[in-house]
Amino acid sequence: MSEINRHIVLAHRPEGMPKLSDFRLQEDAVEPLGDGEVCVATEALSIDAFIRTTLEDEAYHGSVPIGGTIPALGVGRIVASEAAGYDVGQAVFAPLGAQSHARLPAGMVQPIDETVAPATARLGVLGMTTGLTAWFGIHEVGAVQDGETVVVSAAAGAVGSVAGQLAKLAGARVVGLAGGAAKCAYLTDELGFDAAIDYKGEDVAARLREVAPDGVDVFFDNVGGELLDVVLDQIRERARVVICGAISQYQNMDRVQGPSLYLRLAERHARMEGFAVTHFQADFPKAEAALASLLSDGKVQLREHVVDGIDRFPEALLMLFNGGHTGKLLVRV
Ligand SMILES: NC(=O)c1ccc[n+]([C@@H]2O[C@H](COP(=O)([O-])OP(=O)(O)OC[C@H]3O[C@@H](n4cnc5c(N)ncnc54)[C@H](OP(=O)(O)O)[C@@H]3O)[C@@H](O)[C@H]2O)c1
Repeated sequence: MSEINRHIVLAHRPEGMPKLSDFRLQEDAVEPLGDGEVCVATEALSIDAFIRTTLEDEAYHGSVPIGGTIPALGVGRIVASEAAGYDVGQAVFAPLGAQSHARLPAGMVQPIDETVAPATARLGVLGMTTGLTAWFGIHEVGAVQDGETVVVSAAAGAVGSVAGQLAKLAGARVVGLAGGAAKCAYLTDELGFDAAIDYKGEDVAARLREVAPDGVDVFFDNVGGELLDVVLDQIRERARVVICGAISQYQNMDRVQGPSLYLRLAERHARMEGFAVTHFQADFPKAEAALASLLSDGKVQLREHVVDGIDRFPEALLMLFNGGHTGKLLVRV
């Protein structure tokens, strides 16, 4: 093979919000494949919050060494194979990394059936870090019931917009928290949320009292920090607070701001429970099948925001934290 791999490596460990100069584009020849390996040409990469946490010295998802390729989940196509049953041309999902070509043991790639949905759906509605995360957070951890009031933060993002739609399908009243009027209009006008609150421009506590006067049964939280306290103050008896993520805290993982109003849990016989989607691995096939059917019936939708070019991967990663996208953020390679 004479392919050149263009990959994004970590140049410096960021302090706080990463800078473009913390990353470097590097070009190297793809090394010859060993027995049982495949080479995948990347087509699209999922921009996920966990990537930021891997830039630290120590991280739950593993730490990237200086000079190491930034991890990322992606979809692509096999362009060379030394593994029986893995044919050139096959579309696959894999932890490809931020690179144009990934050399991987075949056991690490999952073939994609492109007749079910376009390959990028495996990063979105059918994706582990998006649709599956929303599914288990809403149904298993939040146990959302018909008629309940559900609040979702980062609601116009990937996980949040699917979570809100799943809660609606379960019969809940859904309130989304998002940054800006355009995102709020997207939630109510296009995704069918019952209400949306612009946390950047409105008094969230006051507006939440207006749109959910009887309180909140389930809070699907993607943000943490101050917003978590604002919603904790308005939970109902027996509420469930689902800790899906805390994107407001990922730039300072050694000084995470915890909720100061956690005693509302005791006062209201409520609970707060976190999860990583991988805790539900055994149930992935069931959830994937349910999501595939909702997607093909048009009952769940997810807008894609596509940034073109592997060289723009760092820019896309920063966008996740400044809210420049709506829906699923992808890099097309
Ligand atoms: N538990 C799991 O297994 C699991 C798996 C995947 C993802 N997650 C979590 O799910 C959450 C959403 O991830 P995603 O990939 O779907 O990203 P996303 O929601 O598409 O993008 C992140 C959004 O968060 C909002 N945001 C960023 N910084 C913020 C801040 N300081 N305060 C308030 N809002 C902020 C921005 O929207 P606005 O414009 O509205 O501010 C941004 O669009 C993350 O917390 C992630 O860690 C958890």
